[in-house]
Amino acid sequence: MTRLRPVLALMLGLIAAACTNYGPPSQPAPPESFRERPTTPEPAGNRSTPARVALGKALFHDPNLSADRTMSCASCHQPDRAFTDGTPTARGKDGRALTHNTPGLHNIGLATNLFWDGSSPSLEDQALRPIFNPQEMALAPADLMPRIEAQPRYAALFASAFPGEAPGPSAIARALAAYQRTIVSGEAPVDRWLAGDRAALTPEAARGFALFTGRARCATCHAGWAFSDWKRHDIGRADTPNPRVRTPSLREVGRTAPYMHDGRIPTLAAVVDHYSDGAVQRRGAAPTVALSAAEKAELVAFLRSLASEG
Ligand code: HEC
Ligand code: HEC
Repeated sequence: MTRLRPVLALMLGLIAAACTNYGPPSQPAPPESFRERPTTPEPAGNRSTPARVALGKALFHDPNLSADRTMSCASCHQPDRAFTDGTPTARGKDGRALTHNTPGLHNIGLATNLFWDGSSPSLEDQALRPIFNPQEMALAPADLMPRIEAQPRYAALFASAFPGEAPGPSAIARALAAYQRTIVSGEAPVDRWLAGDRAALTPEAARGFALFTGRARCATCHAGWAFSDWKRHDIGRADTPNPRVRTPSLREVGRTAPYMHDGRIPTLAAVVDHYSDGAVQRRGAAPTVALSAAEKAELVAFLRSLASEG
């Protein structure tokens, strides 16, 4: 028995540690922690060059990468809608509704994992999936290179993007990744406020920021320059079978309605209502914070200040 005690103590310690690590960190990030824009990391095998970005941009907009030549990445990730499509869930092959909301792509190069369930580790890993997904662009893998080779413009683009390398799926994935790393937000009102221009936020939005980083505890998960910790959390949605979802970035969020992985929350006001009044309390879920009507409006005003003017 005595010999088992240290083992038992160790096990109890591990369980305690596991419990405290479950759910969001206890303290919201302070306002100044949102000031510094990190540099976008690039994997060793895919250093960005202007030629790679140019090739990636051409591929991103090319409907020939879909089986019926009607759909490109930009059909769903529309640049003038902050790279979303404005619908609750994406429309895939033949216009059929898919299960997930199209996320915006601003600052996606900062994400440490991709997809709402965090299941893709990198932009290079992610890039070919929608092309071959039978419900999305539905291209047969054997058709990919013939579709590229049939377009004379690509020969020069590939040659300058990947000198000495034959065009292939890996180069396509790396070019798409390099292009997406250039999709970054410009300066938003919140950035000018953080830099010391106190007129950049309305008093209402500034009070919203104080709530966000204080009593409303939003900044426990929406932390860092992109307003995401890139971890999976349960925010107490009652209407979803998989409640642990990777925290989305909130930059440009005023332009990316409707919201959440299933697109079921139509407006920012309704999102804030969810956190205050709609969330179910369960183990591991973020605690709800009761907010007055004025406080809700302050949070919405703050969220709107995260859109860049550029
Ligand atoms: C039919 C609409 C559609 C098309 C076409 C499409 N996407 Fe997406 N994209 C989505 C949806 C929906 C998701 C979320 C899927 C999920 O998380 O399960 C997504 C997720 C992503 C993500 C992850 C974003 C994040 O926040 O984790 C990236 C990156 C991305 N797409 C890039 C691309 C690229 C590159 C292409 C073209 C090769 C493309 N998409 C084509 C709808 C589309
Ligand atoms: C426990 C971590 C956590 C906390 C605390 C939290 N969020 Fe979230 N937030 C998330 C996750 C995870 C999602 C995605 C959930 C989903 O798609 O079902 C999300 C989604 C959102 C969205 C929708 C973004 C989009 O692109 O669809 C907004 C807006 C938002 N949160 C704002 C807030 C505000 C405001 C607060 C404070 C009142 C807050 N969040 C508190 C983790 C959190």
